[in-house]
Amino acid sequence: MPELTAQKQKVPKAFDGIAGTYDLLTGMNPGYSKHLRMSARRLGVPAEATLLDLCCGTGVSTAALRDVYPRAEITALDASEGMLEKARTKRHLRATWLLGDAMDPAAAGAEGPYDGILMAYGIRNVPDADACLERLFALLKPGGRICFHEYSVADSPVRKAVWNAVTLGVIIPGGMLTAGKTGIYRYLRRSVNEFDGVSGFEARLQRHGFTNVHTEAMDGWQRGIVHSFLAERPLA
Ligand SMILES: C[S@@+](CC[C@H](N)C(=O)[O-])C[C@H]1O[C@@H](n2cnc3c(N)ncnc32)[C@H](O)[C@@H]1O
Repeated sequence: MPELTAQKQKVPKAFDGIAGTYDLLTGMNPGYSKHLRMSARRLGVPAEATLLDLCCGTGVSTAALRDVYPRAEITALDASEGMLEKARTKRHLRATWLLGDAMDPAAAGAEGPYDGILMAYGIRNVPDADACLERLFALLKPGGRICFHEYSVADSPVRKAVWNAVTLGVIIPGGMLTAGKTGIYRYLRRSVNEFDGVSGFEARLQRHGFTNVHTEAMDGWQRGIVHSFLAERPLA
């Protein structure tokens, strides 16, 4: 496990190496953008909310937020210069782009407080999920809402088998074809296998003081594999 934690510190650098082909590969993944829009809708914040898209990458998750909340004020943060550079070219997304670490968004200028936070494929990648959750709780307004759009398969041997079949048969070869490298995709497979199960992640959120913690499913092959983990900072 310490080896995986060390690997997590290098994840943004690894994303620099695939920034140019990220949109191509995710575009071939059926449901990728639709599922992000489902999570954005499930966040359920007011139309003119202040939002943080944490680990925004090339802005695919930012686009989902912008589709659902055209009048929101969106700040989007990522630690990969390469991914952020791609995002910045998408002017129609109208976001404030910040280069920074999700372990301490305020240090990069994402001080909040926010009505809502979307973290899509992010919490699994940070080196210390508990320290990150503590920071995110503090960045939300009382009554603010958070959605972790994330893979989680540990509770189901069947879903775990599907996940390993899809990564070995499609995603890792797809990474080789599009980017000519597989390291980050092999890390993806392993980090999902070792991430919390649904019940474990819900319990972790509750331990950090979040309330109304619940999980909603996706459709397609991602059913039971990708989830919207939803929670709130209580009013008092
Ligand atoms: C799989 S991509 C997801 C991008 C986007 N949210 C989406 O849904 O397409 C994960 C992103 O998390 C970023 N990331 C990983 N660790 C990070 C950290 N500690 N701080 C900020 N960003 C991080 C990576 O640079 C990468 O852009």
